[in-house]
Amino acid sequence: MSSDIKTIGLIGAGHIGGVLAELAVTAGYNVVLSNSRGPETLTETVEALGPHASAASAASAAESGDLVVVSIPFVAYESVPVEPLAGKTVIDTNNYYPARDGVFPAIEDGSTSASKLLAGHLPASHVVKAFNGILFSHLASLGRPAGAPGRSALPIAGDDAEAKAQVTDFLHRIGYDVVDAGPLAEDWRFRPATPAYGIPFGGGRPDFWAADPHPAGADEIRRRLQEAEPVRALGGELPDDYDPVRRD
Ligand SMILES: NC(=O)c1ccc[n+]([C@@H]2O[C@H](COP(=O)([O-])OP(=O)(O)OC[C@H]3O[C@@H](n4cnc5c(N)ncnc54)[C@H](OP(=O)(O)O)[C@@H]3O)[C@@H](O)[C@H]2O)c1
Repeated sequence: MSSDIKTIGLIGAGHIGGVLAELAVTAGYNVVLSNSRGPETLTETVEALGPHASAASAASAAESGDLVVVSIPFVAYESVPVEPLAGKTVIDTNNYYPARDGVFPAIEDGSTSASKLLAGHLPASHVVKAFNGILFSHLASLGRPAGAPGRSALPIAGDDAEAKAQVTDFLHRIGYDVVDAGPLAEDWRFRPATPAYGIPFGGGRPDFWAADPHPAGADEIRRRLQEAEPVRALGGELPDDYDPVRRD
């Protein structure tokens, strides 16, 4: 591995964190997983991932990771350890769902966003938004080697060029091309209820969570990012039957 990123720390080891851990191990990284209940609850997960995986507290996972993924219910963002993440690139997969997270008036009125709140909580880290707009099961199965037909692309957003380069390299290694959507403030282009959110990887179906995985390349992602409308992105409502964290 040419990159200086050897170990991925994961804060949150659920649907998305678990899939990312698997993809990362397959790509040759070490992973350190954590959750809210403690490392002893991750024994089976770690055993299934093999010798390059271990479990720790969130603070230890943050400390161990050369690159750290935060993939937890957004409402818990203030529990993310701050000091061990100083100077590091942090991937933010989180989405704000008022039905799950409670209502944040400052997000609802557009004066801030879930990503900006996490970035504000981690002032010495470089937050890059990624993986928030693909269903975990689609993420698990759409990865392809570089240059392979049907390789999909994922959008990222962030303010630090070096951090985005690290995240881009990570995505490339786990099987995805990257579309740079711009600074973190542009992440509204792939928030819930935008055309780039989930839909491309469900073959264009608005009920993408019920669809088989479908590859979507960089051109399609770029087009869908351009189609996003700010008002809809900020106040987006999802259908009643959409459960972003369902367990089947
Ligand atoms: N599901 C999807 O397909 C999908 C797709 C894109 C983005 N997202 C977003 O990504 C985030 C994670 O989604 P998910 O579906 O992976 O959720 P999930 O399956 O519910 O998993 C959440 C994980 O976060 C852990 N956690 C909760 N609070 C924590 C804390 N304070 N510190 C450390 N770990 C904590 C949980 O641990 P415990 O079980 O021990 O509490 C669990 O491992 C959410 O913001 C979601 O909106 C989800």
